[in-house]
Amino acid sequence: MLKVGRLRCEYFKNPIGIGEKKPRFSWVLDSDGRGIMQSSYRIQVSKEDESFTNPLWDSGKVKSDSSVHVEYEGPEVLSRTRYFYRIRVTDNMNNESPWSKTNFFETGIFDTREWSAYFISPEEENRTEDYSIPLIRKEFCVNGEVLSARVYATSLGLYELYLNDKRIGDALLTPGWTSYNKRLQYQTYDVTTMLGNGSNAIGAVLGCGWYKGSFGPEGTRNTYGKRAALLLQLHIKYSDGSEQIVLSDESWKYSKGPILMSEIYHGETYDARLEIPGWNMPGFADAAWSPVYRLDMEKSNLVSQENEPVRVREVIKPLRIIKTPAGETVIDIGQNMVGWMRFTVKGTRGSKVVLKHGEVLDADGNFYDLNLRSARQTIEYILKGEGEECFEPHFTFQGFRYVKVEEYPGEPGLENFLGVVFHSDLEETGQFLCSNELVNQLQHNILWGMKGNFIDIPTDCPQRDERLGWTGDAQIFSRTASYLMNVASFFKKWLRDLSADQYADGGVPHVIPHILKPFEHSSSGWGDAAVICPWNTYLCYGDKRLLEEQFYSMKAWVEYIRSQAESGLIWNSGFHFGDWLGLDAQEDSYTGSTSKDLISTAFYAYSTKLLAKAAAVLHRSNEERNYSELYNNIVSAFRKEFFTPAGRLAVPTQTAHVLTLIFNLVEDKDIKRTVDTLVKYLEENNWHLTTGFLGTPYLCRVLSDNNHTDTAYKLLLNTNYPSWLYQITRGATTIWEHWDGIKPDSSFWSTDMNSFNHYAYGSIGDWMYRVISGIDTSEEKPGYKHIIIKPQPGGGLTFASASFDTMYGKVKSSWKKEGKITRLEITIPHNTTATVILPGAKSNIPDIDSDCCMQVSEGVKLELGSGEYFFEYETE
Ligand code: BGC
Repeated sequence: MLKVGRLRCEYFKNPIGIGEKKPRFSWVLDSDGRGIMQSSYRIQVSKEDESFTNPLWDSGKVKSDSSVHVEYEGPEVLSRTRYFYRIRVTDNMNNESPWSKTNFFETGIFDTREWSAYFISPEEENRTEDYSIPLIRKEFCVNGEVLSARVYATSLGLYELYLNDKRIGDALLTPGWTSYNKRLQYQTYDVTTMLGNGSNAIGAVLGCGWYKGSFGPEGTRNTYGKRAALLLQLHIKYSDGSEQIVLSDESWKYSKGPILMSEIYHGETYDARLEIPGWNMPGFADAAWSPVYRLDMEKSNLVSQENEPVRVREVIKPLRIIKTPAGETVIDIGQNMVGWMRFTVKGTRGSKVVLKHGEVLDADGNFYDLNLRSARQTIEYILKGEGEECFEPHFTFQGFRYVKVEEYPGEPGLENFLGVVFHSDLEETGQFLCSNELVNQLQHNILWGMKGNFIDIPTDCPQRDERLGWTGDAQIFSRTASYLMNVASFFKKWLRDLSADQYADGGVPHVIPHILKPFEHSSSGWGDAAVICPWNTYLCYGDKRLLEEQFYSMKAWVEYIRSQAESGLIWNSGFHFGDWLGLDAQEDSYTGSTSKDLISTAFYAYSTKLLAKAAAVLHRSNEERNYSELYNNIVSAFRKEFFTPAGRLAVPTQTAHVLTLIFNLVEDKDIKRTVDTLVKYLEENNWHLTTGFLGTPYLCRVLSDNNHTDTAYKLLLNTNYPSWLYQITRGATTIWEHWDGIKPDSSFWSTDMNSFNHYAYGSIGDWMYRVISGIDTSEEKPGYKHIIIKPQPGGGLTFASASFDTMYGKVKSSWKKEGKITRLEITIPHNTTATVILPGAKSNIPDIDSDCCMQVSEGVKLELGSGEYFFEYETE
């Protein structure tokens, strides 16, 4: 039976407070059949009414196979209004589905003028700097039967909201991090059931966060402003049709609270003796509290929440408590994680719990935190001494596996501690498992590298005094990320900040949001995030609107490079990070030895090519033509500059060869030679890589694209230094920043820059999904509307199984190998098609007993519709 499921509006299930005026719908077809394609859809949208008796918009039956990002085309949607929608479809077998379940979307505040609330701050303009975290509150009356109530809120700094002593919502670190002066997100909460009749109390705790805490390269304070503030509007709709609005204004009051310090890098100091019981209950005596200050702030930068907020995703019981040789008591979580510790404790009033967080133990087995640089990552809790006390921090996060218990009344037990893991609440989409346990652990580490670094923005690392949105790291990992979780909205938000922070001449800051010095921008391989990230997001989710939105930014970046490049073609000027952390670096250098001119010009070519493709998708034919021409010119200039007349690539490094091949910069006649040279370099290095941030993501792909899949497997499966699995033999549970974070002699790389949770080298994840299991999308029909399945068993693996939830549903590719026989099971989601390619398949296997089993022979490409299939074939 044909059914419609997994309804999404702008990637979200039943979102409230969206900012889109033309929201898009996506759904998945469910059917037992095979080869199912949608032949029509019908969408009904109803305003504030679930019955659809008089829908606001009925698309009618639309002949179309679109089931992803179908745009609402009804009458203009209004601000702060809930709309219900349902969908039905027909398929190519003449089946008609019933109506789907009813879902909804609710709009946020569309017009700045609807904000009558004021930003209010508990902080005086010229007060002396104080780290303590204030509480603010207000009481109001509810009289009548409440139909619905919504809070719209944001802050300068971070906030937690409470209503009648209960936390509003479960999002952490709100309002998230954006380029605040240009774009400040507000959140929407449904608080209907939290209100009581009569007196109610609403309040907030205001943290410093990215806005004004100690943050960034020099730990500067007040990056965006000096005063924490709240902006809040509570709209209460009564059954008689009336509406009451409670606003943040000068009638609110503030007081100091128990949080003495809470900083992203440094942790939190909390004195439970200073708790104010009932401060958020109606009737609380707040005579001693002081009135807040009203700030006259611009509100035109307010935007509704665009991505999934940060939420607690799991809670881990620690593995063990150890006594180190230095006599320290250290809790081992068993997993390098990001979040904080929740703990319980009993003790006398004024006694303390002090916890320090670190990622690794040193060579002697002692607690190590020198790689955190100035980030203190310390939690200090002062007990009130009233029975069992339970604590978790508020406006901070720690990156850690080990927790040194510096103080704790009595003996800390495992049962007193839990690791609370949080990150952007993205839907996990990928699963990968194979016969090699170390490779499975690698996959696990890649996923945990992502969990720890997708904290509202894509960060480089979550532990030291950095945690910034490094553009290079983000673009390097973006394709892998899109296999593991649905990152479309996450990147959409971050890319909007990238556009917002981009310089007028198109230059792109090294980190987004931009908080570095003004001249710190536009390194090749980093700034290219402006083009690569939107393109990858388009490829993986078919999101044309995002491409359209980012097009200007993409183009500005390419034009920036053109303005910097010699003759507009060879980019040989300016500052570049180069092949960051490449192992062919000079002594004491962070930068691999590949020529920066080559890297920059190669990325220039790549970004220009992608821009031309984006122009084609968006039917911008002039731009398509111009940038295709520019691309051809860059490629010719590149060849002249970096190839000898006889066809040798003149820069003798692995990364130079990798980039030149992956970006198609090699003349056809020289491809074999370039590939052979790369393979020779690997062989000369005892089949080990020397590539850094820019070469590594593409290394295995270049090999498998050029008939050297066996070499790619060799690199993947190396367990000695340097390799992906080397880290695992050293106990890594996340991906390291350096190949030699811990050297074979157990010493550390250095203290100044040695993160054990950096996702960049996790970009091998892309190759694992795309080549080992062979799941890819096609550029012609992106977003997995057409799927390529081209599994490439090898490396002695006896099985590998990957599945991945696309916007159309689950795609799966799972193979087993026994001798020369490969058995492959695949699933192709409905309303998509697939090309199946089986490299090396030699002959048919005649004894096929399943009617789903397909016969294949060498060179055959099978064009298939949706369903489950099973193949058996022989290879060499
Ligand atoms: C970060 C990197 C980043 C780099 C710039 C480092 O400090 O952690 O991941 O891309 O700086 O080269």
